[in-house]
Amino acid sequence: MPGTSVIGLQWGDEAKGKLVDILTTQHDIVVRYQGGANAGHTVVAGDQTYKLHQIPSGILHPNVINVVTAGVVLNPPTVLDEIDGLVDRGIRVDDNLMLSDRAHLIFPWHFVEDRLLNESTADGENIGTTLRGIGPCYRDKVGRSFAIRLGDMYQTDFRSHIERIVEAKQRTLAGLNGRAEDAMLDARKIYDEYSGYAERIEPHVADTTAFLLDAVEQNQRLLFEGAQGALLDVDHGTFPFVTSSNSSGVGVSSGSGIPGRWINRVIGVIKSYATRVGGGPFPTEQDNDIGQHIRKLGNEYGTTTGRPRRCGWFDAVAARYTARLSGVDVLSIMMLDVLSELAEIQVCVAYDLDGKRIDNFPSHVEQLRRVQPIYETLPGWRQDVTQIRCLEDLPENARAYLECIGELLSRPVGVVSVGPDREQTMFIESAMAT
Ligand code: IMP
Repeated sequence: MPGTSVIGLQWGDEAKGKLVDILTTQHDIVVRYQGGANAGHTVVAGDQTYKLHQIPSGILHPNVINVVTAGVVLNPPTVLDEIDGLVDRGIRVDDNLMLSDRAHLIFPWHFVEDRLLNESTADGENIGTTLRGIGPCYRDKVGRSFAIRLGDMYQTDFRSHIERIVEAKQRTLAGLNGRAEDAMLDARKIYDEYSGYAERIEPHVADTTAFLLDAVEQNQRLLFEGAQGALLDVDHGTFPFVTSSNSSGVGVSSGSGIPGRWINRVIGVIKSYATRVGGGPFPTEQDNDIGQHIRKLGNEYGTTTGRPRRCGWFDAVAARYTARLSGVDVLSIMMLDVLSELAEIQVCVAYDLDGKRIDNFPSHVEQLRRVQPIYETLPGWRQDVTQIRCLEDLPENARAYLECIGELLSRPVGVVSVGPDREQTMFIESAMAT
């Protein structure tokens, strides 16, 4: 069975881009199956840094096919900018990039809606979206009446489709805050603009579901690249402080159209600590010197929005939940080097909820707000690990920390990363083979 999936087990930004980039050499096709331009995957290759939002990280390898499937929401101008930026830097982008004709499109009204809705609060707190129109586009997809898919741009009724939706959206937007300028959408201008995008994107548009079903039946090797992290999953995450797609492992099949029986290995990616961007509860958050230290050494600022990330200790209750939810076989622990200067490191092993110890991740956000982390304290290693290339050479306390995480999550550690470069990655072959 030919499929591997790479899933972030926290709130996103677990450095999945680097792992996908390395694993790509063992695969024929890289698949992006949910999310949109809210994602930011940073890949460092030699002296070059690439920041990808909608195009799979596999694009940096010329012999790999990159597929963006039906579960993704696409913003055509940013896809084209990304393509242009890659081509300018000598990266091949032609028939190695396929975009699903079923993917839903983001339009200017989605950005306005995202901004207006994000100004309001959920449960007294701002969701803090990336303002990329993601939630409104997914809402229109599920609502159906105002949705436009990539394949719709090539139909004869595309213009009238836009006119009808603009008329309705103008009323909706005016109702959201009453400001006239927010509701000023010009259907003709939007049609002309998107017709231009349609022409440029057309060589990449395909029925990716059929392509991938053929590929797995022909035993091609697929790598599924998750965006965001499992705790932001719209159904299973910290709702309502989530994104609008199934970002945990359960979303791979619905987003790509490939049944789970074709996925034989799931790699769960975690940082050696925890971060979160935007609003919502974060039990192990360290809004103090420790958090600032982690932010500084980990350069914890959003790839997409540049916002400072909230930082805290590793939360094994949350990661154990998402590892089970995502069917994780093996763990990849990133950014171990960021903790190297600390004398002591804390790991959240359980929660205290209203005076009772619990090991399960609560389903309701209000309970999650009330939990107190129960920590275990481990000694730090206080030694630079960025030049280490083999697990055995890591300081004993660093190895003990990795073992502790593996035991708490009941999964072997198969990858350890000690810096942004491809070379700063150790693979534990025995664990990866399981
Ligand atoms: P949206 O996906 O833009 O609607 O944002 C919803 C929530 O998900 C916000 O808290 C965002 O900060 C968060 N979010 C969305 N995409 C990412 C990501 O790629 N990494 C981390 N957080 C994200």
